[in-house]
Amino acid sequence: MLLTYDAFREAVEDDDRRRSLLFEDDHPRYVLFAQQFSRVDLVRLSASATAIRRMDRHRDGVGFLRSILSGKRVLNLFAQPSTRTNESFVAAAEKVGATVRVVSDLRTSSFAKGETVEDSVRTLSSFYDLLVSRHPDDDFATRAAWALRRSRRPIPVVSAGSGKSEHPTQALLDVYTLQYSFAERGGLDGKRVLLVGDIGRNRAARSLALLLTRFEVRRLDVACFPGHGPDPALVQALERARIELVTHDSLPKAVQTLGKELDAVYVTRLQQEWDTGAGKLGTSEDFVLAWDLRHHLREDCVIMHPLPRVNELPDEWEAHPGFVVWRQVRNGMWMRAALLADIHGATDEIMARARRLGVA
Ligand code: NCD
Repeated sequence: MLLTYDAFREAVEDDDRRRSLLFEDDHPRYVLFAQQFSRVDLVRLSASATAIRRMDRHRDGVGFLRSILSGKRVLNLFAQPSTRTNESFVAAAEKVGATVRVVSDLRTSSFAKGETVEDSVRTLSSFYDLLVSRHPDDDFATRAAWALRRSRRPIPVVSAGSGKSEHPTQALLDVYTLQYSFAERGGLDGKRVLLVGDIGRNRAARSLALLLTRFEVRRLDVACFPGHGPDPALVQALERARIELVTHDSLPKAVQTLGKELDAVYVTRLQQEWDTGAGKLGTSEDFVLAWDLRHHLREDCVIMHPLPRVNELPDEWEAHPGFVVWRQVRNGMWMRAALLADIHGATDEIMARARRLGVA
């Protein structure tokens, strides 16, 4: 059935109808929202990311990994500044054998001549087997998925950051990192997480909050800049998942109050690129995780940041036992490799090979 864009948009926003449009034979085809993944999907992707990481150290494993997407061509269409996420996707695709091309200067593409999203992505889909997109519009990846789905070459689309709304692959790697950090403490269920910063405009924090609804998280604390708190859609999604949302107007105060109850603190920067005429970059003391605040936290409290950071998470934190920011970066590559493989229905094969090599 050919849906109009508005009907498609409405359907993918609906928890009950989303899956039939974005998945095929139970593996994802369009990766647009963190909340499109079920708990079962998260377990499968995490196991595969770990298997890929271990096989990459194994001579026979490396050759096998390179064969998974061999002959496939990936296009990274990045219409917003990004080095790390772009490079993470490039490295991930190469780990599983695909070749990647990056188009980032859209001024030289036909978008600048007024071409529609639909025509552009349909043209590009002729030369590629998968599209990874980062775009300042919340809707770009969804529109691309809709246009491709109704075309004769419905290549998969993965959002690598959509406007202020979603960053699904960042949420996948963050949940993977949290689960790994809590491996000996029963996983994410029952944990207390504090999200800090520009929750309204930081798509990484937003997508993570949405993915936490897949766990037995009963309460979520946020310390956010005035005017940049959770938006109504996020508040509603947390309500539906029966997660109590508690908002704090200063990070030091939140840490002093919650202290040793906290299992993880996820810090983000003020997203000043959305402000016109923003002054000096960085955030005020009220939203800096000052090193002194460590005395209020447990030694095993996990400290995370999606990067890039400005002044909100000082360097001293690298000495804290719970600091996992560089692990997040590395995990991003493994999780994205697992996702690209899963899109191509290769996860069972990866797990079977990992078992044979004795690494799963
Ligand atoms: C984030 C992004 O671009 O959404 N960075 C990232 O992808 N790791 C967060 C940010 O820019 O602050």
